Amino acid sequence: MRKKLVVGNWKMHFNVSQSSHLLHRLQERIQTHNDVEVVLAPSFLVLQPLSLQIDRRKFKLAAQDCYWQDEGAFTGEISATMLHDLVEYIIVGHSERRHVFNETDEDVARKTAAVIRNGIVPIVCVGETAGERKDGETKQVLYSQLLSALKNVTSEDIKDLVIAYEPVWAIGKDAVREATPEEFREVAIFAKKVLSDKFGGGIARDIRIIYGGSVNPKNARDFVVEGGADGFLVGRDSLDAKKFLQIIQITRDAER
Ligand code: PGA
Repeated sequence: MRKKLVVGNWKMHFNVSQSSHLLHRLQERIQTHNDVEVVLAPSFLVLQPLSLQIDRRKFKLAAQDCYWQDEGAFTGEISATMLHDLVEYIIVGHSERRHVFNETDEDVARKTAAVIRNGIVPIVCVGETAGERKDGETKQVLYSQLLSALKNVTSEDIKDLVIAYEPVWAIGKDAVREATPEEFREVAIFAKKVLSDKFGGGIARDIRIIYGGSVNPKNARDFVVEGGADGFLVGRDSLDAKKFLQIIQITRDAER
């Protein structure tokens, strides 16, 4: 069984010194041989300085996004090639990228392929909007997001892949509510089926499916125990050392 994964997505928060401060608070409290894989996803600006301070026995780093070309005249963009030495994971298709920056399934597919091509593991985010859930389209949306994100990859490529189920209506301070563990479980079973039909059961079994959307120390345990979540993508509560450490601890204890 693969280790559970807890990813802190710091989004557009913290400058270099604030990030170092949070890292140090986390670093002094976390154990070296953690049963849970803990990943920090700070801004691009902060990745390099943090990479020099981080204890890699305790944490891994992730980028929050990347561009799909490896290099060239693309003002303002950062490629997976540039991130290769810094990060082990890259988040692709986060709903804020899809909905605020109009990223399409095609963009997500190209980015996923670029991440894999550069030897990094993609954390592919999928999730329906409130309207799509209300209209009973959840599975249809997830089916097309999953298959299009992975259309350029082979079963060989995806052995470490992580899928984050992040219903759009559950994310951020304007969230309607968090998903329930049952809702997560239903989606995770469905996603495994889609992955197993495309890549084969053996490969699909190893793909971790994590939950994101208003994860906090109160709801984390139920997602692992009742929902069967392989971990979390945490936004707001990853900005607070105490809460993030609690979520890691809960994930670890729920595992046992
Ligand atoms: P949240 O964000 O935990 O603040 O809801 C989750 C995410 O966007 O990944």
